[in-house]
Amino acid sequence: MISRETLARELTKARDRTLRLVDFDDAELGRQYNPLMSPLVWDLAHIGWQEELWLLRDNNPGRPGLLEPQVERCYDAFLNSRASRVDLPLLSPAEARSYCSTVRSKALDSLDALRFDGSETQSAFTFGLVISHENQHDETMLQALNLRVGPPLLDRGKSLPSGRSGVSGTSVLVPGGEIVLGVDESTEPHSLDNERPAHVVDVPAFRIGRVPVTNAEWRQFVDDGGYDQPRWWSERGWAHRQEAGLCAPRFWNTGDLAGTRTRFGHVEDIPADEPVQHITYFEAEAYAAWAGARLPTEVEWEKACAWDPATGTRRKYPWGASEPTEHLANLGGDALRPAPVGAYPAGASAYGAEQMLGDVWEWTTSPLRPWPGFTPMIYEQYSQPFFDGDYKVLRGGSWAVAPSILRPSFRNWDHPIRRQIFSGVRLAWDV
Ligand code: AVJ
Ligand code: FE
Repeated sequence: MISRETLARELTKARDRTLRLVDFDDAELGRQYNPLMSPLVWDLAHIGWQEELWLLRDNNPGRPGLLEPQVERCYDAFLNSRASRVDLPLLSPAEARSYCSTVRSKALDSLDALRFDGSETQSAFTFGLVISHENQHDETMLQALNLRVGPPLLDRGKSLPSGRSGVSGTSVLVPGGEIVLGVDESTEPHSLDNERPAHVVDVPAFRIGRVPVTNAEWRQFVDDGGYDQPRWWSERGWAHRQEAGLCAPRFWNTGDLAGTRTRFGHVEDIPADEPVQHITYFEAEAYAAWAGARLPTEVEWEKACAWDPATGTRRKYPWGASEPTEHLANLGGDALRPAPVGAYPAGASAYGAEQMLGDVWEWTTSPLRPWPGFTPMIYEQYSQPFFDGDYKVLRGGSWAVAPSILRPSFRNWDHPIRRQIFSGVRLAWDV
């Protein structure tokens, strides 16, 4: 299932992507675009440092590494808040590139030396973790670049399929019944700790949006005074709306530029039929109340995405077993934006829900919690420290997620006030 060639190819693909996201001058790479984000040069060296720790030092920080101890301390995410990283004595861009490339060539040597005879499971998983981690940081770097003010560094992104009319605002029925939630190593060897183990849960019937909520729909909420009426908002949501002065999704412009948004430095008309992006959980919740709906739980979301009622089994992807292509989902990061709703009819789930993977991360009402029987993986700090925090789960992946790391069981999370992430919303209804 996991081959040396696949791992090598995905490592290289992730690195090519990373290097394209740091192909800027030194001053640029050292800038902190926003206190929510690290300077790009931090992400770069952090990617290398985790790879070194996991693959070359057996995850043991006590083993000597390539960097001085006081230097490598800079790259431990738990020791340094994002806001503080710009003030650390970081490696220069040239040093960070050379460090990452040294680590990578040793990692590839170790992959070459790995015997694929059935005893490689744990090591192959760790290579997959390295691939997932690097790709996740690539998305983080895209969030940073989107916050950058000034003439664009990135172009507008690759072209995408057109949407279809008639899907926006519609929903599909998901009848009640048991499903298998989560996955196991046997079917998804690269699944991360918080996706496991697979277990049976009963899910009462509900309806879910066929597609995510669009900018046009969100505009109606704004025009209807949705941001000014506390009745649509939770108490915490309203308090945050007041304190942060929210009045539209992040990156929607006002004044002379009303009707436009800024995306990676490009000012452009807000596309009506594109899923809304850059909303907090609290805004999603208020929108849903205004629309006479609610947000889905992550369990409902996963059922609508992956369950096949005809066979009583999970699908690997919403559409079936075949690997994602550009006809099935908007993934991989090159679009730099979501695709219009209705763009991927062939990517529909068994229940008819579309664009479940790719485009925008979808907020759910679920706090991040372990599935029963949770066991931390080699990267013990990946999930566990966040289980009791103020986090809501997001599902489905955005346009910025690499297809090779995404599964219907993949769980992301963030604070309910965050919206620099590529977050959107899909509605749900009781039946
Ligand atoms: C799973 C996206 C919430 O960015 O904080 C990267 C991923 N963890 N390095 C994050 C992660 C450690 C994580 N999220
Ligand atoms: Fe990290």
